Amino acid sequence: MSDKRGKRKIGILGFGCVGQGLYDVLQHNQLLDVANICVKDKTKDRPLPATAFTFDAQELLQDQSLDLLAELISDPNEALLLVRQALQEGKTVVSANKKMIAENLPELVELQRQYGGTLLYEAAVCGSIPILRTLEAYYGTEPLQEISGILNGSSNYILHKLDAEGLSYQEALQQAQVLGFAETNPTLDVGGYDALHKICIIAAHAFGVVIPPQEVLRFGISQVSTQDVALAQAAGARIKLVASAKINTQGKLEVQVLPTFVTPDSELYAVNAEFNGVQLQAKFAGTQFLKGRGAGSHPTGSAVWADVSAALAGYKYNYAKLSAAATATVAADALLRVYLRVEHRGELPNLPWQEVTSFGVNSQVVQLLGTIYRSDLLQHRQELEALGAFIAQVPDELTEEKLLRAAAVTELVAA
Ligand code: HSE
Repeated sequence: MSDKRGKRKIGILGFGCVGQGLYDVLQHNQLLDVANICVKDKTKDRPLPATAFTFDAQELLQDQSLDLLAELISDPNEALLLVRQALQEGKTVVSANKKMIAENLPELVELQRQYGGTLLYEAAVCGSIPILRTLEAYYGTEPLQEISGILNGSSNYILHKLDAEGLSYQEALQQAQVLGFAETNPTLDVGGYDALHKICIIAAHAFGVVIPPQEVLRFGISQVSTQDVALAQAAGARIKLVASAKINTQGKLEVQVLPTFVTPDSELYAVNAEFNGVQLQAKFAGTQFLKGRGAGSHPTGSAVWADVSAALAGYKYNYAKLSAAATATVAADALLRVYLRVEHRGELPNLPWQEVTSFGVNSQVVQLLGTIYRSDLLQHRQELEALGAFIAQVPDELTEEKLLRAAAVTELVAA
C-alpha cells in the first residue's frame, strides 16, 4: 500500500551491514518509504533516532499497510521463521540470508507456490553481481554446463592481502571484519560454508538440482599458510577459494568448494580483494564472466534494492529448471588433483591416494600432490580439518614438475 505521497512502504528486519546499506540506498533515491525497522539489540548505538526502530518483528509482519518486507538478519533459524510466516500470508519478501535459503529451498519454493507470495534473494549470492537474475531471466531454458567462481568476498580479501601485501592471516581477517565483509561468525566465510550455501542456491537455479549443503565437498581457507601462498606465487599462480557446479562428461552434476591454484589464464586470477567473479558456460551462448563487489554494505544493499524494485514491479523467480521434467542428477564421485599441506607428519591419516608425490625438505611439514576421490576426501574431511590441513585443487597445467620446482624455490628463499 502506498502512503499519502504515493510511495510504496517497506519494513526492514535487521539493521546490520546489509540493512544499513539498503537504508542508505533508499534514502538516496527516496522512491520508497521505510515504514519501520526491526532490530534485536536494545542497547546498541544506531545512526537513526530510536523512534525509527521496533524490537518486535510481529509489528512488521502484521502491518497490512506494508508492501514488502526485507529480511536482513544474520540468524538463519530466526530468518526462516519470519520468512515462512510472511510467505504463508502471501506477502512479498526479499532476503539476503544464504544459509537459510540454501538449507530450505524446497520449502520456500513450495510456500510461494501455495500461498502466492514472492521471495527474491539476489543479495544472498555474490553481493552486487546479478547472477540469479541472469540465470533465471536469461538462462531459464538454455542448458548450462558449468558455473564456477569466487563467491565469498571475505576469504578473497584475505587471500589477496596475504598474496599482494604479505599481511598475516589474522590481520587480513580483522580488516575484512572491520570493513563489514565478513559474517557475524567469520567461520562461515573462511570455512567455505558461505560459498557452499551460495553454490547450492546457484545449482538450483542453473541446473534445477537441490543439493543439501552437507553433501558437498567443502574445504575453506582458514588453514592457509605463508608457505602455501609462496608456493603458489613461485608456481605463477594464486590461491583462490573456488566454488563450482558443473555437468561432467557423463552428464552428472559435480559440486564442490575448494581452495584452488588459479593460473593467469583464468579470469578468476585477477579477481582481487572483496570482489567476486562468476564464470558461466552455456550450451549455445558459450562462456561469460561476471565480476563485481561480492561483499560490503552498499554493494549488497544495492542488490537488495534491485530485488525490492523488481518484486514491487511483480517479478518472481519462475524456477524453470527446477520445474523441468528432466534435470541433472548428482555425480556419485570424481577424481581430484590436490595439494595437501599439514604440520606434524605422524598424525596424517592414511588417505586412499590414487597417486601421490611427497615433497618439501622440512621434516615437520608434509606437502603432498596427488589424486584422490572426492568421496574419500569427504570421508576424511573432519579428521583433516581437525589436523589443520590445508587442501587446494591443482589444475593439470601446473604439472608435478612445475610444482616441485616452485617448492624448491620457496625452500631456498626460506632457508
Ligand atoms: N560474508 C559474505 C562475503 C558477505 O564475504 O562474501 C556477502 O555475502
